[in-house]
Amino acid sequence: MTDLSTLWHDRYGDGAAASGEVARAAASRPAAAAATALLERLLAHRTVRAYLDDPLDAGVLPAMVAAAQSAATSSNLQTWSVVAVQDPARKARLAQLANAQAHIREAPLLLVWLADLSRPDRTARRRGLPSEANRYLEMFLVATIDAALAAQNAVIAAESMGLGTCYIGAMRNRPEEVAAELGLPPRVFAVFGLTVGRPDPARPAAVKPRLAQAVVLHHETYRSPDDAEAQAIGRYDEIIRRFQRSQSMKEVDWSRQASERVAGPGSLSGRDRLVAAIRALGFELE
Ligand SMILES: Cc1cc2nc3c(=O)[nH]c(=O)nc-3n(C[C@H](O)[C@H](O)[C@H](O)COP(=O)(O)O)c2cc1C
Repeated sequence: MTDLSTLWHDRYGDGAAASGEVARAAASRPAAAAATALLERLLAHRTVRAYLDDPLDAGVLPAMVAAAQSAATSSNLQTWSVVAVQDPARKARLAQLANAQAHIREAPLLLVWLADLSRPDRTARRRGLPSEANRYLEMFLVATIDAALAAQNAVIAAESMGLGTCYIGAMRNRPEEVAAELGLPPRVFAVFGLTVGRPDPARPAAVKPRLAQAVVLHHETYRSPDDAEAQAIGRYDEIIRRFQRSQSMKEVDWSRQASERVAGPGSLSGRDRLVAAIRALGFELE
């Protein structure tokens, strides 16, 4: 594993050269006490979209699920489930529903992470009790947050086993069709997919730099947006361009990409109708 200061540099690019608030955050590197193997693992994260054909060892899936189940979960309700898809034909159909992303077909395993309020519905019903709270947006959020926390633990577990993963938010492009493909009961929603496989060393992924800490970290109260933020983002545009150059990717400013992504409903890949889709799946979102 690469040492922490190299990983830190990779994570922020050369953000240390920036000024003001940014410089202060860049200076706050982890003390020796914080230099744990887990922190190194977290800082080394990169999304992997190129996999070898190798099937996964039988122990991988149970280990990932145990890690997922070890995440905190709201009120211990455990309102998530996961579908492990390995059948190539089903994977291909799900890939089609998710903007035809090739890495979904290529990965030996696709995990579909579910916000699952059908289980608490059933549990209450078996006890002869109502489950009216499941009608509310709050419970949908509880289940979605639970699913995300579980999945991220599974990602870290996979990375610790030398595997690579890619979240698939595009699994929300056509939620009703995904639900039909997976046979989901009412009040179950596929929050995202996750491809898992052995990274292809011939097509390696790199650590993608993030915004300087001072942009995302506020102390005590939310700092009012100021020139320092604009400057730090301008600096980040350069850092991302350098990253793209190093990866032979098309160069585009992050601020432009981020702005285009929120420009209008057209940039949501069909997810602008998500409220209607989620209601159709049995969540009232009151
Ligand atoms: C919820 C979520 C959904 C995502 N959906 C997709 C996706 O559909 N396709 C894809 O190629 N990458 C997807 N990604 C990966 C992001 O593009 C990636 O995490 C981001 O560019 C940062 O890169 P890194 O993970 O390598 O640091 C998704 C990530 C998250 C967290």
